[in-house]
Amino acid sequence: MKLIVANWKANPATLEEALDLASRTDRAGVVIMPPFHFIPGIRPVLKSASLGAQDIFWEDLGAYTGEISWRHLQNCGVTWAIIGHSERRKYLGETDEMVNKKIQAALTNGFKGILCVGESAEIRKSGLNAAKSFVADQLQKALLGIDSKLLSNLIIAYEPLWAIGTGNPDTPESAAAMAQFVKLTLQASHQVNVPVIYGGSVNAANAKSFLDHPAIDGALVGGASLKADDFNAIAAAA
Ligand code: PGA
Repeated sequence: MKLIVANWKANPATLEEALDLASRTDRAGVVIMPPFHFIPGIRPVLKSASLGAQDIFWEDLGAYTGEISWRHLQNCGVTWAIIGHSERRKYLGETDEMVNKKIQAALTNGFKGILCVGESAEIRKSGLNAAKSFVADQLQKALLGIDSKLLSNLIIAYEPLWAIGTGNPDTPESAAAMAQFVKLTLQASHQVNVPVIYGGSVNAANAKSFLDHPAIDGALVGGASLKADDFNAIAAAA
């Protein structure tokens, strides 16, 4: 069964809407990632889906204004975390070093981590090989010094930046080629087999074309995860 992840980002506006969306998309094989403050409310609604966070702070507790730590998430029943989403890298200045610390903290403390990688439009214009070397560099920096034994709980999300939220997805063929490249890269560098999911304008109409590729182990879904019928159609395609 392929993994389908709902990344709600900063949506919806109210807990009432969040509870409605969660109850209508609660199904096995799915991870729901709401904004932090909805997590305690949503937890009892989920009977089949897993609960995830869109970010995770590496320290335990302490003087870190505004941060939500791995311990807070653990105490709220969260078992998954997205790490290094491109929107955090772009708008909040998240660096490879920060991403590395978050992966270390998440995996050491028993979370399943979804590490996001992907190239900009500018890089992709130079060709798929340029995209591959950019992604390989992101992977090595994110996983620097992390014990290979911990990587059994890591999933990579390949999300080309130009495909996120644009309605302009990658082709299933090049997404599959990148997924395969990520797998081979991590087999060579860390001797691990890591699942790779695709994200970037996945919707009910195109999901199957991605999920049918053996190299693509699932989808990270943003916009379409906010519409229960669309999201359920994507999950059904998996
Ligand atoms: P999108 O977002 O499905 O709206 O393109 C994907 C993501 O950012 O994870």
